[in-house]
Amino acid sequence: MSGEKLPPQGVAAANTSGSASAVEFCKGVNGLEKVVLREPRGTSAEVYLYGGHVTSWKNDHGEELLFVSSKAIFKPPKAIRGGIPICFPQFGGLGSLEQHGFARNRFWIVDTDPPPFPVPTSSRAYVDLLLKPSEEDLKIWPHSYEFRLRVALSPGGDLMLTSRIRNTNTDGKAFSFTFAYHTYFSVSDISEVRVEGLETLDYLDNLQNRERFTEQGDAITFESEVDKIYLSTPTKIAILDHEKKRTFVMRKEGLPDAVVWNPWDKKAKAMADFGDDEYKHMLCVEAAAIEKSITLKPGEEWKGRQELSAVPSSYCSGQLDPHKVLQGS
Ligand code: BG6
Repeated sequence: MSGEKLPPQGVAAANTSGSASAVEFCKGVNGLEKVVLREPRGTSAEVYLYGGHVTSWKNDHGEELLFVSSKAIFKPPKAIRGGIPICFPQFGGLGSLEQHGFARNRFWIVDTDPPPFPVPTSSRAYVDLLLKPSEEDLKIWPHSYEFRLRVALSPGGDLMLTSRIRNTNTDGKAFSFTFAYHTYFSVSDISEVRVEGLETLDYLDNLQNRERFTEQGDAITFESEVDKIYLSTPTKIAILDHEKKRTFVMRKEGLPDAVVWNPWDKKAKAMADFGDDEYKHMLCVEAAAIEKSITLKPGEEWKGRQELSAVPSSYCSGQLDPHKVLQGS
């Protein structure tokens, strides 16, 4: 996936000076521009400007933590299958736009001078991207906005995504949107995975016309297709990979809902950009704002943040208390 080096495109000096390798601009699959972030301890991440799309997140052993399909098509207008597509301004088919909105198949630009964050990012491995509507976009969604996405690796290797969306309409109109970080986690075997933090919650079942149900049982496990939108979820969700002895912890802000998706065998076969058996090695858990859309008046800004960490789990030996994972900091 690595390729020819590009000039740093005048990106803010703060995150490139001193360590040339913290942020590298280069070309990825099909010559698409990408940004590689590296932390001194060996963790890394990759972001494509196409889609503002994170396609890789590796731990300090170089192990890939996100799933990207071997059949992913890195070519517009198809969104990249895997990694972290951004669903904006519409989640799924909940509106008149194309499925999951258009942010995931637009070319973002590097934001060289983003408005400052209240708390500065504590590492040099970050990049700021910006999406604004084109003339064509305004025809299908007639609103001016600035969507700023910061992708950062913490010194410890956590992957942090912060979205700031501002209404820049000059016609006095508010707009509403739904949103998701459509994260594809890489797992060893889906049948050995459990999700903690969503049990007993209400969800809308996408497989049953979004009818509302209440989750029963101790934890979410997987033995068939699942496509659910959990509502009013906690700020922490854990994904336990029994076989890998790894737990992903997702922390989120501004994103009350969480989608859990696995296409299973039949749907996998029907997707051109997804291998027939790949459903066994992925799980989407998506921090989202879906049930209640976000409304912004002109000049208002919304912030939605997702932080991912991957920690060794001792679930296998029966020591892991999921409540500790969810409540610990
Ligand atoms: C999930 C949806 O978020 O994304 C599913 O809940 C959908 O219904 C899946 O099938 C994949 O969507 P797409 O457009 O990337 O194939």
